[in-house]
Amino acid sequence: MRLKGKVTIITGAAGGIGRATVLRFAQEGARVVAADIDQQGAEETARVVPSDYPGPVTAHAVDVSRADGVERLISDTVTRFGRLDVIFSNAAIMRAGSVVDLSESDWDALFAANVKGAFLCGKYGIPAIRRNGGGSFIITASVNSFYAESDIAGYCATKGAVMQLTRAMAIDHGPEGVRVNCICPGWIETAMSQPFLDENPEGREFAGKIAPLGRIGQPEDVADVAVFLASDESRFVTGSAYTVDGGWTAGMTKALALI
Ligand SMILES: NC(=O)c1ccc[n+]([C@@H]2O[C@H](COP(=O)([O-])OP(=O)(O)OC[C@H]3O[C@@H](n4cnc5c(N)ncnc54)[C@H](O)[C@@H]3O)[C@@H](O)[C@H]2O)c1
Repeated sequence: MRLKGKVTIITGAAGGIGRATVLRFAQEGARVVAADIDQQGAEETARVVPSDYPGPVTAHAVDVSRADGVERLISDTVTRFGRLDVIFSNAAIMRAGSVVDLSESDWDALFAANVKGAFLCGKYGIPAIRRNGGGSFIITASVNSFYAESDIAGYCATKGAVMQLTRAMAIDHGPEGVRVNCICPGWIETAMSQPFLDENPEGREFAGKIAPLGRIGQPEDVADVAVFLASDESRFVTGSAYTVDGGWTAGMTKALALI
């Protein structure tokens, strides 16, 4: 019960890392709002929570790139539970392409979901969190916050932006007791990485080979780090970027040796 009673909003909760985090948070006693643009998926997440988990989970449909929707998500949560302690701003999209190939509308969509979404969760969520004297705000960034990969220029730009947003928010809101950190996953097996893994039959094996820990990541690997960052165990941690990549980016020489 590391999150006992903590009222938490998790965005991007219809699948992948978001769904795994909803499950872990509910298991640890958090009261969770599972939010996603995919309403059916969010409802399915709430349904698959085992009945013996202590935390209640409710689904909420939201487009995180829309101010009215995010404002309603925060106010509905506070009305329902009386407070807000934690936000996990995790929703994002992927669009492939170099800057030459990427359409303007894909660029705008990437920044709307991946960067504006985190901004709006902070804009409307932090005032609610600080009313309790503080809490935790977590953003899902990426190893692409540090390192670029080919053919995903817009996505890399958004993930660099949210890591820097994490730091700026940590500085602004630390004095109010709001801790802000980001998690930087490497390759995690979810719907987002699936197209790449399907296109490249050896992709999963390659992801395992480049990571010193020898396997592709699972959503639960990220969820467990989110539990730590949401819990009081991380009470002196803010402005940090936690890499969850099986050592991939620490072991670049291993990746280079395979090329
Ligand atoms: N899978 C990976 O290898 C990997 C690696 C690094 C970072 N990440 C990051 O992890 C996070 C979770 O992704 P995932 O891998 O679980 O993929 P996913 O596609 O399963 O999850 C993303 C979720 O965000 C939701 N979403 C997208 N746009 C939204 C919007 N405007 N409003 C509300 N919800 C929206 C989607 O419906 C989906 O449920 C993302 O921030 C992603 O960038 C993933």
